[in-house]
Amino acid sequence: MAILITGGAGYIGSHTCLELLNAGHEIVVIDNFSNSNPESLERVCKLTGKDFKTYFVDLLDKEMLEKVFLENEIEAVIHFAGLKAVGESVELPLLYYQNNITGTLNLLEVMKHFNVKKLVFSSSATVYGLTERFPISEDFPVGALNPYGRTKLMIEEILKDLYISDQEWGISILRYFNPIGAHKSGMIGEDPFGVPNNLMPYITQVAVGKLTQLNVFGNHYPTVDGTGVRDYIHVVDLAKGHLMALKKTCSTGKLESYNLGTGNGYSVLEVVSAFERASKRKIPFKIVEARKGDVAICFADPLKAKKELGWVAEKGIDEMCEDAWRWQSLNPNGYDVNKDLVSPYLKSSEDFFVGNK
Ligand code: WQD
Repeated sequence: MAILITGGAGYIGSHTCLELLNAGHEIVVIDNFSNSNPESLERVCKLTGKDFKTYFVDLLDKEMLEKVFLENEIEAVIHFAGLKAVGESVELPLLYYQNNITGTLNLLEVMKHFNVKKLVFSSSATVYGLTERFPISEDFPVGALNPYGRTKLMIEEILKDLYISDQEWGISILRYFNPIGAHKSGMIGEDPFGVPNNLMPYITQVAVGKLTQLNVFGNHYPTVDGTGVRDYIHVVDLAKGHLMALKKTCSTGKLESYNLGTGNGYSVLEVVSAFERASKRKIPFKIVEARKGDVAICFADPLKAKKELGWVAEKGIDEMCEDAWRWQSLNPNGYDVNKDLVSPYLKSSEDFFVGNK
């Protein structure tokens, strides 16, 4: 029986695939590679010494999705696939609703058809919207502020209605705070297309010389130094949280939401200082206007995940910065490697790449 990972070639997806394989799970990956690179999966294969099937499939292609379930005995699904750029979602809302919502509905319908009713869903702290109380716990009111966040919220509501209609489903909704860092090997990491929207990949690209300086979005917030405070969580801790949620979801048919954060908040300038210590690189920055839609402070109360999943984030901000820097310094252009140098893995798995090329 295999675990199906949608969007498994992505930043969090590839780290979760690695942890699943190392824990002895059999996995099957589907990805449309619209926002990820198959190279990440080759490297997961190299790091673990384990092979796995990868299908080039878009969740909007229901026929191909059915083929994956026909060809593999799927026990449960971890669902990462989705567009996730806040700014882009404001410009292209229909793309986001179509891709994230319809894609998820297709997945749920196919899962139901094949009687696969265990799901871990990748949600986001963005569903809490503009909250003024901290730390944030799962029972806080929700209210997303942009189309991306609204797709996450709507999917959470769809899952709740699905569970009410059929309590054979086991569903874990994981609300991520701010994932950063990379696997210790430096072989897999965050590789955003174009200029990064998020803080850490922007900092690492300044450090490696791809960008000239960091723009700090505002320093008039009610925080330690006026810059925005967030709950940064190491992507490996986040990946391990998925394994613990999967274990709980497969053993109990319930629906629960969990915050995956450290419970600690760091300001932008505190992250810059931590990164400079870790990388021994100076990060030139300029204070500019606050970014529209940003909240001042956002950090988690992770107690429920600790109590119910036995999960606690273990890595601190220094390790997150060290690991982020190792990935970027070893891969200045991310996964954009010369395909002629690609290991046999990708060529030999061409037959695994099925669906619309
Ligand atoms: C962090 C802090 C910025 C960039 C977003 C999504 C959320 C999730 C994580 C998907 C803020 C500041 C940033 C820069 C800066 N994504 N910043 N200069 O906005 O907390 O969350 O990414 O699930 O849904 O909303 O993360 O990394 O963009 O910003 O000063 O160039 O860094 O103002 O205070 P955010 P971020």
